[in-house]
Amino acid sequence: MAAPDAAIRLRVLVAEDDADVRLAVVDSLRAAGHDVVAVRDGGAALEAAAATAFDLLITDVRIPKIDGLMLFRRVKEAAPGTDVILMTSFGSVADAVAALKAGARDYLTKPFDVDELIVRVAALAERRGLQRDLEAARAQLAGATETAILGESPGIRRLLDIIATVADSDAPVLVTGESGTGKELVARRIHTLSSRRSGPFVAVNCAAFPETLLEAELFGHERGAFTGAVKKRDGRFRAASGGTLLLDEAAEIPLPAQAKLLRVLQEGVVEPLGSNTAVRVDVRIVSATHRDLKRRIAEGLFREDLYYRLNAVNLHVPPLRERGGDLTLLASAFLQRFTPAGKAVPDVSLDAWRALSVYPFPGNVRELAHAIQHAVLLSHGGTIEREHLPADIAHVAAVTSAQGQPEVRPLAAVVKQAEREAILHALAVARGKRIRAAELLGISRKNLWEKLHAHGIVDSDVDDGRE
Ligand SMILES: Nc1ncnc2c1ncn2[C@@H]1O[C@H](COP(=O)(O)OP(=O)(O)OP(=O)(O)O)[C@@H](O)[C@H]1O
Ligand SMILES: [Mg+2]
Repeated sequence: MAAPDAAIRLRVLVAEDDADVRLAVVDSLRAAGHDVVAVRDGGAALEAAAATAFDLLITDVRIPKIDGLMLFRRVKEAAPGTDVILMTSFGSVADAVAALKAGARDYLTKPFDVDELIVRVAALAERRGLQRDLEAARAQLAGATETAILGESPGIRRLLDIIATVADSDAPVLVTGESGTGKELVARRIHTLSSRRSGPFVAVNCAAFPETLLEAELFGHERGAFTGAVKKRDGRFRAASGGTLLLDEAAEIPLPAQAKLLRVLQEGVVEPLGSNTAVRVDVRIVSATHRDLKRRIAEGLFREDLYYRLNAVNLHVPPLRERGGDLTLLASAFLQRFTPAGKAVPDVSLDAWRALSVYPFPGNVRELAHAIQHAVLLSHGGTIEREHLPADIAHVAAVTSAQGQPEVRPLAAVVKQAEREAILHALAVARGKRIRAAELLGISRKNLWEKLHAHGIVDSDVDDGRE
């Protein structure tokens, strides 16, 4: 039994020349909550169908101008997704059978009870509702791999917890963090977990527009509002209505636009440039910046009042170098992502691995992703060696190993360092699966678990070993 709330309101076109039947059908459909357009003949039905997309056509077979069967074919041709219910008088059952074969959902022989019609329409509505939910779920699954925030480090876990807590409120969120740490990903995740998920997610890069253009981009403009404004535009605020608006690189918003933005946030309305009518908008604001906004405020470049408006919740995304074993996990994920379909995921040599773990990644996750993509391409499906990595990263490793005479260090430190590298390497080879990594290292799972903790590699309170 399907969930009753899966049913949706249908847009129904009723074509029937008999006024009594038409009124009875229209009234009962409207009473059941559907949107109904009613016409008397096939010509008017075709016109209505050309103007609006209907979910359901209910037509009498014998109607003037274009008969019901022809209407049915034409509507199906133009909009194959439309369901059709035919109403036939007793004599035209043969027609109805032909129509059913051609794809009509259903037919009713006159005279019929309108309740019977409503039951059938309800079944269609429920099926459509389920289909819609299914499609939404599929879309979510398809998008999930690209928008998942990967990571097991304490910093990322904390971040995911806070995201889950704040997502379903309308509180403005300010996402901060270095370049390439995943701020936009965080913004998208907030949207996906919020009740606005079926609404739009709109991102505006505030650094990409000169002053007036940014205002026009955000708030919209009338035709001729400024030089070059040849067409009227709605602006991103209205485009995001019912959903989430990401103000990316928010620190770059010029002061005059900041003043306007503040007003929009306070009053919930936008006023397009060149117009004096305010339009109400319903938007959840997420902003992101890699800059220190407090410093921008001190320098007089950012309004403190706007800062407090945007920053009801602050989510800080930690840099990759503070995320321990996430590097392994992310590198494995990117290895899989960038390996062509049907090919085996390449191995990474210890030397290449060492380079990755020493390099500071100023561009964070984005830079790591590029490095892996680069290496996958250059290694042509073979093991990824140091020289397959981008020059900056390969060079770091070269410098460390080319220092020739390694400095003399206490044995314990050397051993610890070697152990750490071996563990990271095993995890990389085992693609993050700890059971396999322990096997490769020839130690027990428990021992590996202890060592991971000792090296601060992963915040692992579970070692369930699920594959
Ligand atoms: N935790 C993560 N898991 C998986 N992929 C990630 C993660 N963090 C970032 N990425 C990927 O790294 C790239 C950069 O992420 P994103 O664009 O969200 O960063 P950003 O902080 O907005 O960067 P910038 O400061 O340059 O605008 C994207 O391709 C994103 O999918
Ligand atoms: Mg970004």
